[in-house]
Amino acid sequence: MKINGKHYHTIWLKENDPTVFQVIDQRKLPFQFEIYDMKTVEDVFFVIREMVVRGAPLIGVTAAYGMYLALLEFQSGNRKEFLSEKANYLKSSRPTAVNLAFAVDEMLNYILGNIEDSDLHDKALYKAHALKQSEIDFGDKIGESGLKIIEEIYHKKGDTVNILTHCNAGWLACIDWGTATAPIYKAHLKGVPVHVWVDETRPRNQGARLTAYELGEEGVPHTVIPDNTGGHLMQHGMVDMVIVGSDRTTVTGDVANKIGTYLKALAARDNDIPFYAALPSSTIDWEMEDGINEIPIEQRNADEVAKIEGWDGKQIQSVQLIPEKSPVANYGFDVSPARLVTGLITERGVCKADKKSILKLFPEKQK
Ligand code: MRU
Repeated sequence: MKINGKHYHTIWLKENDPTVFQVIDQRKLPFQFEIYDMKTVEDVFFVIREMVVRGAPLIGVTAAYGMYLALLEFQSGNRKEFLSEKANYLKSSRPTAVNLAFAVDEMLNYILGNIEDSDLHDKALYKAHALKQSEIDFGDKIGESGLKIIEEIYHKKGDTVNILTHCNAGWLACIDWGTATAPIYKAHLKGVPVHVWVDETRPRNQGARLTAYELGEEGVPHTVIPDNTGGHLMQHGMVDMVIVGSDRTTVTGDVANKIGTYLKALAARDNDIPFYAALPSSTIDWEMEDGINEIPIEQRNADEVAKIEGWDGKQIQSVQLIPEKSPVANYGFDVSPARLVTGLITERGVCKADKKSILKLFPEKQK
């Protein structure tokens, strides 16, 4: 997708230097556009942990390149042990998004399976590139599947389709297209009139800062709303559908996403509004059946809640928001149970949020 009319991905190899990867520093958006270099596995851990990059698919691809950097870093000793240690280290950077473990394991297994090859470095780099490309293709296909749902609503309604989204499940959270935003971009490009209600998404404000930014750059009509506004809009017929992303979806259809998503799912159900989660298969946890009890929920630094960041006209400033002595709880994600989810929009099409329907789309995962 585009920034200032120029096409970008969220991660790429530095021109003429296959040992440096570059990402857009998302901590600075929408105020400053800066590129961040990653040269070591520690750099990769840092960018994921500190949310220089964030969003489940992008976290996965970044970690895949981290495994390639681990391979370059190996000097002597037991290479298998060294790589397994680096894999666990990278996986520990953020617990909720399953794409991270998926991508790291894919890379580790691939590298170990080709460990004796003289061109192993090149092969590992291509493997990471392939994972990146598959996330781009997933976004593209999710967009096509979700577009049909938006078009159906448009044909019934005959007027602008109002879509509510939470957090940033846009191209900035992926590589291109996004997940929740992919159908929106496809509809916009096709001339289907859409308008997006963008939840600000405290505490890090990924909606206000990132989703609003990327929709604006693509010219998609949108309005930023405080997180508590969605229910009111739904009661007044101002929301036609909700589309969110996911950080981990169980094989039974429970959807973990940014904290606050569950409340939108409840409000949508109460108002008979379809609630979709858009996600690639790399976000499905094929081993997990009970999202509420099994998905690890990241707890983040209290400062994210106690302070708020903004632009003072010259620089990004962080100011205290609550009494200095008040304790804070900062759960990063919540789980919307499958019964509240109208459907899952995946790269293989749309299915109900239940095990039978998910496995029908992905029969190779049947045990
Ligand atoms: O904490 P973040 O910013 O990584 O959380 C991101 C989200 O919750 C997204 O909605 C989710 O990863 C889906 S991304 C396509």
